[in-house]
Amino acid sequence: MSNHPPREMLNTRLGFLLLAAGCAIGLGNVWRFPFITGQYGGASFVLIYLLFLLILGLPVMIMELSVGRAAKQNIGKAFETLQPEGTRWNWFGHIGIAGNYLLMMFYTTVTGWILAYLYSSFTGRLSGLSPAETGPFFDSMLTDPVSLTFWMALSVIIGFVVTGIGLQKGVERVSKGMMLSLFLLLGLLAVKAVTLEGAGEGLRFYLLPDLTRFLEAGPYQVIIAAMGQAFFTLSLGMGGMAIFGSYIGKERALPGEALRIMGIDVSVALMSGLIVFPACFAFAVNPGQGPGLLFVTLPNIFNQMAGGAFWGSLFFLFMSFAAITTVIAAFENIVSYWIDTHGWSRKRASWVNAFALILLSMPTVLGFNLLSHIQPLGEGSTILELKDMILSTTILPLGALVFLFFTTSRYGWGWKAFREEANSGEGLKLAGWTRIYISYILPLIILLIFIRGYWSQFFGS
Ligand code: ALA
Repeated sequence: MSNHPPREMLNTRLGFLLLAAGCAIGLGNVWRFPFITGQYGGASFVLIYLLFLLILGLPVMIMELSVGRAAKQNIGKAFETLQPEGTRWNWFGHIGIAGNYLLMMFYTTVTGWILAYLYSSFTGRLSGLSPAETGPFFDSMLTDPVSLTFWMALSVIIGFVVTGIGLQKGVERVSKGMMLSLFLLLGLLAVKAVTLEGAGEGLRFYLLPDLTRFLEAGPYQVIIAAMGQAFFTLSLGMGGMAIFGSYIGKERALPGEALRIMGIDVSVALMSGLIVFPACFAFAVNPGQGPGLLFVTLPNIFNQMAGGAFWGSLFFLFMSFAAITTVIAAFENIVSYWIDTHGWSRKRASWVNAFALILLSMPTVLGFNLLSHIQPLGEGSTILELKDMILSTTILPLGALVFLFFTTSRYGWGWKAFREEANSGEGLKLAGWTRIYISYILPLIILLIFIRGYWSQFFGS
């Protein structure tokens, strides 16, 4: 066991839930969920995604929170603290941190798009675009490497400045309140979207499973994409949640807390779908067009609203906060890794990593313009999608498996210690029968989906 100074504790339980949900909620809910749902055929994808949240995401989140709470360490050190003498689980800590870097290597670029749209909305440039103009507007933003670099770098710098100030003062202050405002605004936009003329077809696409579309999208690919989205949206499999466990005391049992965080997260995603899909069909936008989906559909809704520029600016403002809180959470992971593992000062860790992440994000930025001839996943695909795929359908499921084996195997932390930690405190607890499911069935499901999904990606059905 290593000896570390006690970790700065978050004051309140509400602070913890808001912070953890604030980390989970981000582009994954509002940007990624709709575009992946659109690409993989709509409602059947949504259904499988919801199922996976419950049967895969929830248990893995409980594990991450438990590992974090028991070790009182970030993911870089947590395994080292909890592993039995002579074992080498700690190598995964480094891979988990690599996952955080990889996420930030495309996440900050998309956060930059949000910031750019906030600016365009605020300055009135988004107002009055016709439905036929929103696509070209988005595309022209992508073709300018200088401004894309500027917005990406800005999101990195904002993230590191907040992280550099320190946990309590920085992260907690920024994330509180914004989530609620975002939620209310999404509700308003959803009401507007579902009452648009032609919204019905979008609702059917989003909510009524259709076997033909499911088969067309490729069943195994839909399934692996749904698993990736379930892990991505909760930042699981790379220690994204573990760090929050390390900030809390033992008053509450972790299954109940995990369920709450998941509930908040999924409602934001479902609401975004209720906005994007009716709008797609009302304004003749192709729902399967990929990462630009949110950016070409939403301006159409704002333009239909009285005071659209105001609502648009508010939306992109709240979204910027949602994205930035996720960026801050990942940076906090990265920075505390360098502090705890390499003895760096917080300031040094922040600045060196800010610089490194700007460089590491450049291929994503240039993939939309100077390097757009690189189409790694087939015609029209981008470097962003490659990084996203490596993270969501490879590192996160494999990372989840490591957590699973670590918490259930007697060669790791072990079921008994894990369950004791998860169940310490008041509230919903893990029942004894879950052991069979979590130890044997769950890893099999993840492995099978992983192998079968990759098989169909490269060799066809
Ligand atoms: N969980 C983070 C998000 O959904 C990565 O944006």
